[in-house]
Amino acid sequence: MTRFRYFTAASLDGFLADDDDNLDWLMTQPIDEDGPLNYSEFIAGIGALVMGATTYQWVVEHNATSGESWQYTQPTWVFTHRQLAPVVDNVTIAAGAAIDFRQTLAEAADGKDVWIVGGGDLAAQFADAGMLDEVLVSFAPVTLGGGRPLFTRAYDFELREVDRNGAFVVARYDVVGARGRN
Ligand SMILES: NC(=O)c1ccc[n+]([C@@H]2O[C@H](COP(=O)([O-])OP(=O)(O)OC[C@H]3O[C@@H](n4cnc5c(N)ncnc54)[C@H](OP(=O)(O)O)[C@@H]3O)[C@@H](O)[C@H]2O)c1
Repeated sequence: MTRFRYFTAASLDGFLADDDDNLDWLMTQPIDEDGPLNYSEFIAGIGALVMGATTYQWVVEHNATSGESWQYTQPTWVFTHRQLAPVVDNVTIAAGAAIDFRQTLAEAADGKDVWIVGGGDLAAQFADAGMLDEVLVSFAPVTLGGGRPLFTRAYDFELREVDRNGAFVVARYDVVGARGRN
């Protein structure tokens, strides 16, 4: 059965990016690409992606600067209220409630899982819709003091796995539910 998984990195104080969407604090950290909770193993199990507009624009701009092309072969849904241009054919621009996309995403994932790429409010919207099974976070040894939050609701999680990968504490959690509702 398709799982909805939020796989991300965060600062120690729970931010995905600083207020300027800068990720330099993250990209410069040492990591073992074959180590615990590594990206290659994770992405191999992913059949479809979901991301918010800020994340999408960061990826597109980062690729434009570095000369890379869109890196995801899986169909990707980008949530925005704007008319953003899809960079490739398998990017779909979407808006609305997560629940309205449940069947579409599960079908697109074709037996694999759905990656909620971020940001933290989109992940929380999916959780509120009962569409978030797992959160996998690599915590960098940095505090940012503010920025884009890892998650924007009060929720309980159950720690299922924890390890070290390079500079990161990597942790995998099951989503238990909204605090006060479980
Ligand atoms: N550390 C990491 O590994 C990691 C992972 C992921 C992301 N990031 C970074 O973290 C930052 C995340 O940015 P963010 O917090 O602004 O989150 P985001 O989810 O990337 O973007 C938020 C935007 O998504 C759109 N949106 C969200 N829910 C929607 C819905 N239900 N329907 C329609 N549109 C919806 C809205 O865009 P509109 O204003 O266009 O309507 C909203 O302003 C980015 O800088 C990204 O690069 C870091």
